[in-house]
Amino acid sequence: MTQPKDIKTLSETAQALVPPAKGILAADESSGTIQRRFQSIGVESTEESRRDYRETLFRVPASDYISGVILFDETLRQRASDGAPVVDLLTRQGIMPGIKVDAGGKPLAGAPGEMVTEGLDGLRERLAEYAQLGARFTKWRAVITIGLGIPTPYCIDANAHALARFAALSQEANLVPIVEPEVLMDGGHSIDRCLEVTLATLREVFYQLGRHRVATEGMLLKPNMVVSGASAAGRASPQEVAEKTLSCFMETVPAAVPGIVFLSGGQGDVEASVNLDAINRLAAASGAPWQLSFSFGRSLQSAALRAWGGRPENVERAQRVFLQRAMQTSAARRGAYAPEMEQTAPA
Ligand code: 13P
Repeated sequence: MTQPKDIKTLSETAQALVPPAKGILAADESSGTIQRRFQSIGVESTEESRRDYRETLFRVPASDYISGVILFDETLRQRASDGAPVVDLLTRQGIMPGIKVDAGGKPLAGAPGEMVTEGLDGLRERLAEYAQLGARFTKWRAVITIGLGIPTPYCIDANAHALARFAALSQEANLVPIVEPEVLMDGGHSIDRCLEVTLATLREVFYQLGRHRVATEGMLLKPNMVVSGASAAGRASPQEVAEKTLSCFMETVPAAVPGIVFLSGGQGDVEASVNLDAINRLAAASGAPWQLSFSFGRSLQSAALRAWGGRPENVERAQRVFLQRAMQTSAARRGAYAPEMEQTAPA
């Protein structure tokens, strides 16, 4: 049964996720991804170690900086060490829980080197359950790869179509969709190539969102910043990143979208903060219509993950490191970041 969506609630929730100074923590690593992250610190990924790590983060009083956290299915159902639902650690602080609902990328048939995101089958039923479990918003990530002769229009079209179907179903369940078309920064391409591909992707995404009757005021966009490829020689400056990122959105993103929450996409922690800061400074000067915030995974977590190292005696240190990074990212989100902030030891 389809339901009429409640645009007022969707729009209020979307706005509550992007108030000044706050953004989103992406802690929705799938089982495979968290296993790779844990491998990097020599920790075995078990249900208990994943719970301990996420509980470490969620017990940090970070509600001045974090408005919402994206969870993976397992975490939304998990109990903390004291028996309380893990979600309660967040809601007690006024932080909204959200849920990743896609089933990950698979090779796109007939398109060598390109991916399409799966997970639409049974999504309506899963969304109803997630809402019952306390989720307020959802996320679906599509991956666009830059390479020789790719992305093809076919790949962009297939991914945009899936994003729009996800967003429409999510709004029907009164869960705010975070629409994430990620143009990967892997490779040696120039910032102008990234701009060209991001423009083509966002144009198609908003075309499909319109066709699927998605209310733009009740969603958030989670894009990549427009940056040089990770291995490009002479990578573009933060000022150029800010200019090209904002000009890309001015051409493609409707003003009714309440917020753009960037992914960090493999940028260094400091790099992501510096670029977010430059984008917000330029946006303030040029009167951009949307909130420009963050939904970082790696760049909010990597230092804390290393500080934790899987050891209970490191929990407090990891929490201080996480709080510090959240504070710095929040400063960047306001265009008030200063490099000296990196020098102060976590309080
Ligand atoms: P990163 O910030 O590590 O790119 O992760 C964001 C995310 O949620 C990817 O889906």
